[in-house]
Amino acid sequence: MSCAKNVPSRGSAPIDVPFPHSESGFWAVTRNEDIRYVSRNSEIFSSANGVSLEPFPLEVATLTSFFLAMDPPRQTTFRRLVSAAFTPRQITRIQSQIEANAEEIVDRFAAALASGDDTDDGVDDEVDFVSGCAAALPMRTAWEMLGVPPHERDRVARATEAIFGSSDPEYNQGQDPTSFFLEQVAYLHGLGAELARQRRCEPTADLITGVVQAEIDGQRLSDEQVGAFLVLLSTAGHDTTKQTATHAIKALADHPEQKRWLMADFDGRIGTAVDEFVRYASPVIQFTRTAMVDTVPGGRQIAAGEKVALFYRSGNRDERAFVEPAELRLDRTPNPHVGFGGGGVHHCLGAHVAKAQLTELLRHVLHRLPRLRVGEPAYLQSHFINGIKRLPVRAGVAVTWRGTRCRNDPGRLFWRPGMRGPRVRSPRTNMLGKAFSPT
Ligand code: HEM
Repeated sequence: MSCAKNVPSRGSAPIDVPFPHSESGFWAVTRNEDIRYVSRNSEIFSSANGVSLEPFPLEVATLTSFFLAMDPPRQTTFRRLVSAAFTPRQITRIQSQIEANAEEIVDRFAAALASGDDTDDGVDDEVDFVSGCAAALPMRTAWEMLGVPPHERDRVARATEAIFGSSDPEYNQGQDPTSFFLEQVAYLHGLGAELARQRRCEPTADLITGVVQAEIDGQRLSDEQVGAFLVLLSTAGHDTTKQTATHAIKALADHPEQKRWLMADFDGRIGTAVDEFVRYASPVIQFTRTAMVDTVPGGRQIAAGEKVALFYRSGNRDERAFVEPAELRLDRTPNPHVGFGGGGVHHCLGAHVAKAQLTELLRHVLHRLPRLRVGEPAYLQSHFINGIKRLPVRAGVAVTWRGTRCRNDPGRLFWRPGMRGPRVRSPRTNMLGKAFSPT
């Protein structure tokens, strides 16, 4: 095992930590195979003490991570309760919303690019891809899935972004990062609990209603637990997907031959391409576990109680698992990346939703804006999210066209003269790879 215990270098100043703690350091798991091993052995490597590299108190971990910071059988019950809310009807609804939202978001973004104005930065013909495009779809997907009321949506968006950016001075605006972070979490938690109370009295078609009604082995979620679920889902699904989309657009600009390959058969190739974008971007840098017993994985002695950090980004660049790991290769198969985790009981619950969003967003951006020019990214200061805060882009050509759906066959998109098309998306499948009829 390629673990190495981190030791602060002699003479260096102590690292700032948000809470008092007695942790002495952590083991860094950096190889693809070892990340899989630790992820798949939750009885040896526990999540119940929290999954954050920061030494957070357990109450904070529970507030922010809900069942991500639990072990089976508790975690299994909660995960099943939430999964039960993802009924085929919900999945069809979410898929349709993702398709419609992606088209509308890219429409607006293309219009902003065409007018060379994103209104608040004063720069003439550059528009920020992150705020103008990549952030909008995951945020809307989360709002609509959960049923967040319109008047709360801006506040939810700000809180979610701020949670991931709390260590970046641009987001915390000089406020103490810890109290700033806790303020955002408390807001989202309170909103989730309030929505749960409302949906128990007045059920609707959203996921919160599904979650409060779901029952496994006679158990239901309390209002407080729905609050924690809202924090987990709105944070887990947002920055991760936004960052993958942003890194993908930058990677395609840096690798024009890969873009040509993808565009030669978008529908046939986007499936493998999305997995490669997740590997290449690795938006989640790490999560941690705690060893429950003395163990010797890969010949390293790890003592019970020690912290083990799974560096997914490193596992996704492991030359033992990937040929030319530093290269973007959209046809990479097999692609044993650990971007959604290394398998096991905590493997990302939203991977299908994320892939559906990335497919639809990239479909519209790449067809509508074929010559997008990408400027210098501004990176997020974080050891948790591999983030781009801003990515200035220019259209490269005037954008005045759009595709429209055929009424009799909504799977078919027609394109105005001069564009690529008409084009048939076939076969149509939903987020779980099953046949899907658009509503
Ligand atoms: C490209 C986008 C995404 C990436 C890279 C990503 C990555 C991850 C990772 C690394 C984990 C931890 C896995 C582990 O500990 O083994 C995770 C867990 C999770 N993700 Fe995602 N995620 C993404 C999108 C989403 C979306 C869109 C949703 C919700 C709709 C979501 C919901 C969750 C949940 C609920 C968990 C906790 C699962 C559990 O503890 O049982 N994720 N994700």
